[in-house]
This record gives sequence, C-alpha cells and structure tokens, in this order.
Amino acid sequence: MRTPLIAGNWKMYKTSSEATALAEAVVRALSTPDGTQVVVCPPFTALAAVGRVVAGSRIGLGAQDLHWAKEGAYTGEVSAEMLRDIGCRYVIIGHSERRQYFGETDESVNKKSCAALASNLIPIICIGETLAEREAGRAYAVVETQIKGALSGLTPEQVQQLILAYEPVWAIGTGQTATPGQAEEMHAHIRKTIALLFGAEIAHGVRILYGGSVKPDNAKELLGRSEIDGALVGGASLQADSFAAIAKAAIR
Ligand code: 13P
Repeated sequence: MRTPLIAGNWKMYKTSSEATALAEAVVRALSTPDGTQVVVCPPFTALAAVGRVVAGSRIGLGAQDLHWAKEGAYTGEVSAEMLRDIGCRYVIIGHSERRQYFGETDESVNKKSCAALASNLIPIICIGETLAEREAGRAYAVVETQIKGALSGLTPEQVQQLILAYEPVWAIGTGQTATPGQAEEMHAHIRKTIALLFGAEIAHGVRILYGGSVKPDNAKELLGRSEIDGALVGGASLQADSFAAIAKAAIR
C-alpha cells in the first residue's frame, strides 16, 4: 500500500540558525521509524544547514521550488542538480502561492516536474481550486486541468514516482480546512483522473497529500481517510511539537 508522507513547507520562514534549531527538534521528536515518511522543506538559504542536521536521520530534505534548466543565465534561480548536490530528495512544485504571486502556470509546473524527475528528485506537485472556483462549481474541472497540464508528456513510470498535493487555496493559512469528506472526494477524483490518463495501476500507487490548515487536532480525522496519503503542512510545521503530532497521526 501507499506509505503515508508528511511534509513540512516552511515557506519564507526561518533563518539558517532558526531552521537548524527547528530541524534538530524535529529529528529528536521523530527519531523512531513508524512506517511513515517525513520531509522538511526549508527556504533555499537554510537547505544546507538543515541537510546537515537531518543527514543519517529518517527525515528527508525538500526544496520549495526549482528552475527547469540545467544551468544558465537565470539570475536568482536554482537548478535540480544544485538541489540534489545539497542533499535534497524532494521538491515542492506549483504551490498556489507561486501560482498566485509569481506567475507559475501549468506549463511551468510541467517543465519543473520533468526537470526534477530527470535529476532523480521527487516532485510534490501542488494543485487546488480557489474559493471563487469552488463556489462556481468548477473545483473538479480546475483540478483536472491542473493535473493534465502538470503531467503532460510524462511516462507512467515517472508518474508513479511523483507525489500530488491537493491544497484548496481557500484552506491555506485560513484555519478553514476542507472537511475530511470534501478532501476525500477530491482525492478520489484526482486518482480517477490519473487512472484515465495513465492507467488504474499507476493511479492506485500515486500518493496524494492534503494541504490547507492541517493541525494536530484535525490531522487524525483527515489522515484516517483511505484516499488521503499524507499531508503538506504549512503553519503547523514551524513548531516541532505540532509537526510531530501531525506526523504521528499518520501512523496506520
Ligand atoms: P497552512 O498549513 O499554513 O494552511 O499551509 C498549507 C500549505 O500551503 C502547505 O504547502
């Protein structure tokens, strides 16, 4: 079956020294293997320091973005190889904040996903509708378009390796989480869409995380749903105790 995965997206929080302290606390709190995977995604400037802390532990390291080119004159950007070199195994791609504030499109998400996979990085591809789209009854169609765009041209073998994160934009940082029923329904729809594109067997193996105001007090109920394979955690990942509590709620 699908191994649950809990990833902490630290967004633009934590200096290198603050990140080191948080990573040390996460390693301490989650030292025992329990059949789940745990990943932390600090900002670029803290990746090296956090990488040193989590090396040899069960905690994986992820970045929050990358550029699709191997190298070149792209001021301010970071390549997949650079992330691999510094110890990353995962990379978040297409977060709604990047789509909203930095012009990320399904096309750029697709290019970044291809580049990540080519360098042996596991993409955590974010999808999800806005409140206006949900209220207009377009949530399923929007998510379907995002999936088709993100996974365009990928082989079934590549799709099997990646992770999707359903993050309804209206639930991010708002304290208003999707109900377990709403999340599970959308996850089932996402899996069905992947099955139509890449076959039922591939769809069955793909992990789909939920993200959006996941907290220790709602984690158990969300993660208890069979279609929800883990969580992408923002605010609650910035403290070791709340992040560890969420990770422990994923134990099956
Ligand atoms: P919050 O958990 O703060 O709502 O953020 C979710 C998120 O955007 C994770 O990528």
